[in-house]
Amino acid sequence: MAEESRERWTSRTTFIFAAIGSAIGLGNLWRFPYLAYDNGGGAFLVAWIIGLLILGIPWLLMEVGMGRMFQKGAPGVFSGMNKKWEWLGWWPVFVAFLIVSYYAVVIAWALRYAMSSFSVAWGTGEEAATATGGFFFENILQISSGPAELGAIVWPTLFALAIVWIALFLIMYKGAGVIGKIAVYTVAIPWLILVILLVRGLTLPGAVDGLNYYLSPDWSALLTGDIWFAAFSQIAFTLSVGMAGMYAYGSFIARRADVNNSVMIAGFANNATSFLAGFAVFSTLGFLMGALNLPAEEAVESGLGLAFVIYPAAISMMPTASALTGVLFFLCLFFLGLDSAFFLAHGGVIAPLRDKFGGALAKITATVCVLGFLVGALFTTQGGLYWLDMLDRAVAFYGLLITGAISCIVIGWFWNPGRLRNHTNETSEIRIGVWWEWMIKVVVPLALIFVLIYGGFSQDIPEAYEGYQIGFLNGSHIIWLVLVITLVLSFVFQQIKTRAKGGE
Ligand code: PFF
Repeated sequence: MAEESRERWTSRTTFIFAAIGSAIGLGNLWRFPYLAYDNGGGAFLVAWIIGLLILGIPWLLMEVGMGRMFQKGAPGVFSGMNKKWEWLGWWPVFVAFLIVSYYAVVIAWALRYAMSSFSVAWGTGEEAATATGGFFFENILQISSGPAELGAIVWPTLFALAIVWIALFLIMYKGAGVIGKIAVYTVAIPWLILVILLVRGLTLPGAVDGLNYYLSPDWSALLTGDIWFAAFSQIAFTLSVGMAGMYAYGSFIARRADVNNSVMIAGFANNATSFLAGFAVFSTLGFLMGALNLPAEEAVESGLGLAFVIYPAAISMMPTASALTGVLFFLCLFFLGLDSAFFLAHGGVIAPLRDKFGGALAKITATVCVLGFLVGALFTTQGGLYWLDMLDRAVAFYGLLITGAISCIVIGWFWNPGRLRNHTNETSEIRIGVWWEWMIKVVVPLALIFVLIYGGFSQDIPEAYEGYQIGFLNGSHIIWLVLVITLVLSFVFQQIKTRAKGGE
């Protein structure tokens, strides 16, 4: 694509906000606080900051910098290095597409909960608070007995999913110019809500007990593999690297603009958001433990359990403003998710497709949105959660870690990372030293391989993932299958010849 016609961020600020928006997501609110609690509290923060410095920022800088240098999304970057590597750019494109297809469903659930919050539909008082799991699994999901039983589509969820994809289309079809401007709001709104939720949490009785669970340090944890696994995997997940989009987001940066400092600001802002979210979550959990007389092990959860079961229970028990708190909490989830979703869809999928095939942006955007909606419909069925879970493990764990590790090795050893360093240093406020090259060559790949083996293969090879069974395939088989299919598709896309160089 001719450089002048490439989409551009309208200012440095819009890029920084778009990058922060892609990074802050559901994981900051529902994954990070739990990991801190579960891995030595304050000690986890140390491991997590080290992870940000030696793993996250170097990797993020690599993706953004390569995109800016080659003026292309991930596949264009790798084929620009050498045509034979193009597949390595496509693989994370498929990873990004699959992630956004189910991420949008989670956003749809958040939307349904935001609506239900106006009347606190799951009920108030102690009895309701102990039954929020039932509300989520039976009313919202209408869950089936296992992945083999897909059951019917849950229509309200499909309807909410359609709204999410329509919103995504409207945000994305004009490209980076509009995306950047919207990102300022989709970042600022959840920040504001998090502060309100924090104040709400801290004014509840028992808040301090919760914060103790969140932060009281167990330094001995630093000597275990678990804490480093948790810290490194969270850093890889939270910065939204390894899913193609950051190359494209980097390619929209203007020729003369800063790269290094902007990337660091985005990285630190993301971690600061997680840290803040931890206070909002744990102050509220402290209140819930006191109100229901629950031990921490029963009150503290991560993921869907925290967002859709535990937090609603706290809302049921709140003495005042329970409906308002609920609406704000779920809107916060909605906005946190939205800018990660348009990052995955646009930077991860749409921009790479347009680089290769050309064509009108609105048309490609519409096609990807419809496909994302159709694949997402699978997760709106009664058995959808099981499939979402397996796919999440396949792409958001294995997919992003494997493609990330290989990309660093290829860029570090089969290309010349010094060129990239010179390129970004030329226009950046902060100059990056040669240390960065060694991070990309050695530290990042080793950290990712450690995470893959320690928390991945060593568990999913000997045992079926979550004990799932679908016919003669088990959960782990499905995971390997998804990885193989996406890899094969990546080679197929590499082989496709195109004449189109631009997309006007
Ligand atoms: N970084 C975002 C989050 O922490 O939620 C977005 C994201 C990352 C979504 C990784 C999905 C994913 F697999």
